[in-house]
Amino acid sequence: MLKSELDTPSLILDLDLFEKNLKTMRDFAVAAGKKLRPHAKTHKSPEIARRQLECGNCVGVCAAKLSEAEVLAAAGISEILITSPVSAPWKIARIGSLHQKINSLQLTVDHPFQVEQLASVATADHPIHVLIDVDPEMGRTGVAFENALEFAHFIARFPELVLDGVQCYAGHLQHIPEGSKRNAESTRLMKKGAAAYRTIAAEFSTCRIFTGTGTGTSAADVLIPEVTDIQVGSYCVMDAEYLAVEHTGPQYLPALRILSSVISCNHPGHATIDAGTKAIYVTPGAPPRVIDGNTFRPAVNYDWNYGDEHGHLMFPSEQTMLPGERLELVVSHCDPTINLFDEFWVVRDDTVVDRWEIQLRGCCR
Ligand SMILES: Cc1ncc(COP(=O)(O)O)c(C=O)c1O
Repeated sequence: MLKSELDTPSLILDLDLFEKNLKTMRDFAVAAGKKLRPHAKTHKSPEIARRQLECGNCVGVCAAKLSEAEVLAAAGISEILITSPVSAPWKIARIGSLHQKINSLQLTVDHPFQVEQLASVATADHPIHVLIDVDPEMGRTGVAFENALEFAHFIARFPELVLDGVQCYAGHLQHIPEGSKRNAESTRLMKKGAAAYRTIAAEFSTCRIFTGTGTGTSAADVLIPEVTDIQVGSYCVMDAEYLAVEHTGPQYLPALRILSSVISCNHPGHATIDAGTKAIYVTPGAPPRVIDGNTFRPAVNYDWNYGDEHGHLMFPSEQTMLPGERLELVVSHCDPTINLFDEFWVVRDDTVVDRWEIQLRGCCR
């Protein structure tokens, strides 16, 4: 099938750009002496997770939620770190059965309650592996840097658990526009995380992982000697939000697009397309961008103000658009936009070469 035969709006993935992104990140991590633990929360696709693993230099993948991990495991992926603490007692039995099913399940913890819960579904012979989530002064999850060692001592009381390491993910820094500011702030926080990790690793021989990092801070974070692996997510597909920030590391390419079409254009300088808020997740400050090949179309601006079904394009009145005209847009924020679709239509040049199901779609539990 040709790309021009796809219905709109559809989510398309440019295979050449996607494969380049995977190789660029792998080579970058290898050169820095770090491993990759790509985050599946971005793409929500076991097929992409498999390709990331096959591309090499990975220690496994990350999932944000238990339900994501369950779908990845059912698809045959067995090295999974769940990066958000699981606290709900009604989920504990499911963790127990996932732990029975796969080789290497790791969980992050930030409270004694989770530790006690996890210990209740493991045994000393078949322990559950945990990482301490430290809070990069963001307040979202994690224990304070200065409390991490005491928490490690608490975990050590449970023979049903093994303390594998420390996670520090500074989500609030990833999109700081100025590269030098972003890097400086991340280095400051990751050094604090590294110090916490060092003190724990000095007492607990099983503690050998210091993981964290997103696409935005990866260039700075790999310079921290203690970092063992990086949990990058968005780099594989990219989005308008990331493409707008200053790069200080390798450049990743806009592999993900919404294929859309013009449904009405009765006013000069305006067109209505079939991709509104139900097709492109709203991210203030980083609107979607129309792209031709690999070049953003200048002077065309998108707004969500036409609502659920309709996207609003504005352009100089000497330009024209026609009903039925097809356009590609780089989405604002890849993760939640991918979560709106059932599949990626995988294209090489103008040909659709595959369809990858977004099997983790809706896995928010
Ligand atoms: C814990 C954790 N690690 C890694 C990532 C990946 O970040 P990015 O998509 O910025 O590469 C995320 C994204 O939100 C995350 O929550």
